[in-house]
Amino acid sequence: MTVHFIGAGPGAPDLITLRGRDLIARCPVCLYAGSLVPAALLDHCPPGARIVNTAALDLDAIIGEIAAAHAAGHDVARLHSGDLSIWSAMGEQLRRLRALGIPYDITPGVPAFAAAAASIGAELTLPGLAQSVVLTRTSGRATGMPKGESLAAFAATGATIAVHLSIHVLDRVVAELLPFYGADCPAAVVFRASWPEERVVHAPLGRLASAVDGAGERTALILVGPVLGAEDFGESRLYAADYDRRFRPQGDTPRFPEGR
Ligand SMILES: C[S@@+](CC[C@H](N)C(=O)[O-])C[C@H]1O[C@@H](n2cnc3c(N)ncnc32)[C@H](O)[C@@H]1O
Repeated sequence: MTVHFIGAGPGAPDLITLRGRDLIARCPVCLYAGSLVPAALLDHCPPGARIVNTAALDLDAIIGEIAAAHAAGHDVARLHSGDLSIWSAMGEQLRRLRALGIPYDITPGVPAFAAAAASIGAELTLPGLAQSVVLTRTSGRATGMPKGESLAAFAATGATIAVHLSIHVLDRVVAELLPFYGADCPAAVVFRASWPEERVVHAPLGRLASAVDGAGERTALILVGPVLGAEDFGESRLYAADYDRRFRPQGDTPRFPEGR
């Protein structure tokens, strides 16, 4: 018996990996994490599968479901939105499963920040503008931020920043980022990226909060950085016609003769 943790993707039901879909189809038990996992994914469950929305369960009850499936010899598909490596609460479940000796594996998914970048048609790393992406959040009722992980500390790098779980404190996010990025820095909020009701708001950072206009939707990503909408950036050297590389040797004395 195995618990298959599966990244369910950002919302569109076809943004799940083939492996994830096939695992769902094989498992007689499916536990899914609430409304951010698209209901259409549950259509892949086999007939008669036990399907449980874990939004209303505490950790003990979730582990209880898994332990019961384990006792019955049933594999479990455990779905969390986006990818499992960020804000999925997978870590605490894995720790319990290790303690209980219950095997598991992990199938990654498309994270929300990647879906949001696709929605706005942006590469988040561009030569000369940003070569790092900060995936972060602000402290919430359930989770505080460790010392040192402040928006100001990240913003001081000038990297592209993707702020999760924070649309309800957009004013504060903007206020903390403004001194570093400036009022004219391009920014965007992507609500429900890849869902049918997706909405995108583009505005310079200084006008972002008024442009968003207090929408009630909480599933949103705040993206800030000079890469957004940029046209004035260098081209990657990797694809430059004169760039000598293993797969495209250049000149009389290539660095990698005969592709070695
Ligand atoms: C609990 S976290 C889950 C993150 C997820 N594990 C991932 O890989 O992106 C939920 C937050 O992710 C962001 N989020 C998740 N899905 C989103 C989507 N489709 N569009 C925009 N933001 C999304 C929002 O900031 C939301 O508050």
